[in-house]
Amino acid sequence: MLKNMDNSFDIYEIKARQVLDSRGNPTIEAEVLTAGRGYGHAIVPSGASTGTFEAVELRDLGKKYGGKGVLNAVGNVNEIIAPELIGEDSRNQRLIDNIMINLDGTENKANLGANAILAVSMAVARAAADTSSLPLYKYLGGCNSYIMPVPMMNVLNGGKHAGNALDFQEFMIMPIGADSFSDAVRMCAETYQSLKKVISEKYGKDAVNIGDEGGFAPPVKTIDEAFSVLLEGVKRAGYENEIVFTLDSAASEFYDEKTNSYVVLGESLSTDKLIEIYKDMVSKYPIVSIEDPLFEGDFEGFKEITKELKGIQIIGDDIFVTNTNRLKKGIEMNAANALLLKVNQIGTISESIDAANLASRNGYGVIVSHRSGETEDSIISDLTVALNSGQIKTGAPARGERTAKYNQLIRIEEELQISKYAGKNFKIPF
Ligand code: PGA
Ligand code: ZN
Repeated sequence: MLKNMDNSFDIYEIKARQVLDSRGNPTIEAEVLTAGRGYGHAIVPSGASTGTFEAVELRDLGKKYGGKGVLNAVGNVNEIIAPELIGEDSRNQRLIDNIMINLDGTENKANLGANAILAVSMAVARAAADTSSLPLYKYLGGCNSYIMPVPMMNVLNGGKHAGNALDFQEFMIMPIGADSFSDAVRMCAETYQSLKKVISEKYGKDAVNIGDEGGFAPPVKTIDEAFSVLLEGVKRAGYENEIVFTLDSAASEFYDEKTNSYVVLGESLSTDKLIEIYKDMVSKYPIVSIEDPLFEGDFEGFKEITKELKGIQIIGDDIFVTNTNRLKKGIEMNAANALLLKVNQIGTISESIDAANLASRNGYGVIVSHRSGETEDSIISDLTVALNSGQIKTGAPARGERTAKYNQLIRIEEELQISKYAGKNFKIPF
C-alpha cells in the first residue's frame, strides 16, 4: 500500500534486476526514485577471496549461471524490501538501513541477502543526494574541505585472482610523490605501461595477460622476483623516488588449518617464519603497507606483526570484514593499524560509515576498497572522498570497472577545485 508522500525526498519507487559483474557472473542492481524525481541506482560487487565472516551474498544455486544467479535477491528487493521502504524519507539512511536489517533478522543478512540490502542502501543514498542536487560525496561527507586519496593500484596479480603460481594476491603501487590525484593516475598509468614492456621482454608477450583486477599475471613465483619486476617497471617510468609499494597477501587463501601453517610455493611455513619473510621484504623494498599478512582468525598474530613491523601499515581485510565488532576486538588488542573498507562485506552504507568512523577515532587508517568482481558503479570513489579516508584501493589503471573509479575521482578533483592530495608528505598515521 502506498504511504502518503509528504515531501520530495520520500521514496516513491524501488526496483531491482539481475545484471553482470566484471567476471561475467550475475549481480544485483537497484534503482530508487523519490517523489521529487530524484534518482539513484547502484550495482553490488562481489569478491573471490572472500572472508569467512562476511555478510552473506545470496545466490540462487541451481543450474542457471552455474548456481550464481541472484533472482532470489532481486525478488527480495521487489517484493519484501520495496513495500516497506516506499514513503520513507530517503535522507533517513540509518533508519532505512535498520528497517532492512530488521526485516532480514539475521546477524549476517543471510535471509534477504547482503547483496539485496546493499543494492538498495546505496541506491537510496544516491537518490537522496540527487533530490538534494548534491554530488554523492558532498551529500555523504557534509564537510567543507576534502582530501583526494592516494590510490593503491594493483599491477601484479596472483593468488585467487590469477592463473600463475604466485601465492601472494596483490602487488600494488602507491604514487605518494604526485602533485594531485590526476597526476597520481598519470604516474601509475605510465608505470603500468612500462611494466608491461618489462614483463614482455622478460617472459614473452604471452605473459602480459591480466588478472581479475587488471594487473599483469606473469609466471613469477617468488616475492623477490615479483618485486624485482615491479622495481624495474617503476625505474623505467622514472618514478623510483615517488612510488612506493603495498602488498595484499590475502593469507587466509594459503593458510592450512590442519597444520597451522602457510603453504608458500609448496613449502609449509610457520607464522614466525612468515613474519620473518615480511621483515626481510620491508627491509629490502620500499614497502609501506601490508594487507592480510596472516589468516583471518589470527588476532594474536596480527598483534605480533603490527608490533614487529613498526612504521608499516598493517591492513585488516578478511580479519575485520568491515564489521565493527571484529574491528573493536582488533583495536583492543592492537591487532593491525588500518581497516580495509568493503561495503559488501557488511551490507549497508550506515554500517560501512560506522566501521570507518570507529577506525578513524582509534587512529586506524581507512582504505576504501573495490572487490575483485566489480562493475561500472563507482560509488566507492564518492565514499572515499566523503570519508576523507586518504587511501583507495581499486585495481590497475586498466579495465573499465577499475578505471570507472579512477575517472570518477578525476571528476571529483576537478569539481572541488581546491582539494588536498593525500600523497604529498604521505605518512602512515602511526
Ligand atoms: P576479493 O579480493 O574482492 O576477491 O576478496 C580483494 C581483496 O582481498 O582485497
Ligand atoms: Zn584483501
